[in-house]
Amino acid sequence: MDDIFFQLYKKIAFLGDPEKVHDISLPILEFIYKSYLGKVLHKKIISKKTKQLNIDFDNPLGLAAGFDKNADYLNFISNVGFGYVEVGTLTPKPQAGNPKPRIFRLIKDEAIINHLGFNNKGIDYAINKIKKFNRNIPIGINIGKNAYTQIKDAFRDYEYCLRKSYAIADYITLNISSPNTKGLRQLQSGQNINEFIRSIKGLHDNLKKVYKKHTPLVIKIAPDISIEDIGGIIDLINSYDVDGIICTNTTIDKSSIDESYKNLQGGLSGRPLYKQSNNILKEVCRQMSKDKTVIGVGGVDSPQAAKEKINLGANLIQIYTGLVFKGPGLIESILR
Ligand SMILES: Cc1cc2nc3c(=O)[nH]c(=O)nc-3n(C[C@H](O)[C@H](O)[C@H](O)COP(=O)(O)O)c2cc1C
Repeated sequence: MDDIFFQLYKKIAFLGDPEKVHDISLPILEFIYKSYLGKVLHKKIISKKTKQLNIDFDNPLGLAAGFDKNADYLNFISNVGFGYVEVGTLTPKPQAGNPKPRIFRLIKDEAIINHLGFNNKGIDYAINKIKKFNRNIPIGINIGKNAYTQIKDAFRDYEYCLRKSYAIADYITLNISSPNTKGLRQLQSGQNINEFIRSIKGLHDNLKKVYKKHTPLVIKIAPDISIEDIGGIIDLINSYDVDGIICTNTTIDKSSIDESYKNLQGGLSGRPLYKQSNNILKEVCRQMSKDKTVIGVGGVDSPQAAKEKINLGANLIQIYTGLVFKGPGLIESILR
């Protein structure tokens, strides 16, 4: 039944501009799930319990960052079967992001190219929304920097967001891998990542003392990262006791997609990202000590694809583009 409804919705929705469709459909779904009807539609969470990041997850499948940047749709996204959700990316100040159009559907490839550039209402707005929400599953908060903040000052933006999120998040993600904020990925390598992690972890350790609670911290990396940079990040994760890693964000590699889309600016997600993302996941799991949590994301659009990420060593999984093309039925089929 769900599937028939989704196929019908998709036929109509896929005629429209992707960003407009997202911005119209989600408030409607949120309204429905917030109403009495929400109790009827609520999907019982399929139990595949796991403890990661010192958090008890009902199941290991989560919604990836970017789908609900501002925590505006928590009633909907927390009640479709996910074991956890990640909101954001959030920046200290609200910002509009890059010029539109900036989301493109690649129907044949079952992929998306997005060039959003952290459009969001700012960390304060999202924190307020989360505070007011009676959560039934863990909520991760994904943080980044404002577009106008120079890379040398980026740590200040992350520190600001970390302070704001610490008490309220179940875990916090440092997104240093979006391809849509100029220069952001420089934070992943060399001296930049060293200084960045050192300063963020200094604050993180202080906040732990202040709040007498540990909010786990994870780093989200790009699928385009070099093997050398992976090694550098894993060394830092171990030495500074960061809790985990998310592999991966979207790719700038467009070699595998239809010629007509190759010149589009932005990050590619969905099926064409799957192999590349898995290669990074495999390398990370090979090097990472087993007490750390590895979250696998990128191109999961079937139970087999999710299983493969677990087989490669992922402890938790996330999806985004698969949900757009396959609908919420994908959540149940993966978990079953
Ligand atoms: C439209 C769109 C917006 C996204 N925005 C963010 C974001 O704000 N922060 C982030 O860390 N990842 C963002 N992502 C990346 C996803 O979280 C995920 O890492 C990536 O899409 C790979 O997973 P998928 O193939 O299942 O989509 C975005 C992805 C898409 C498609």
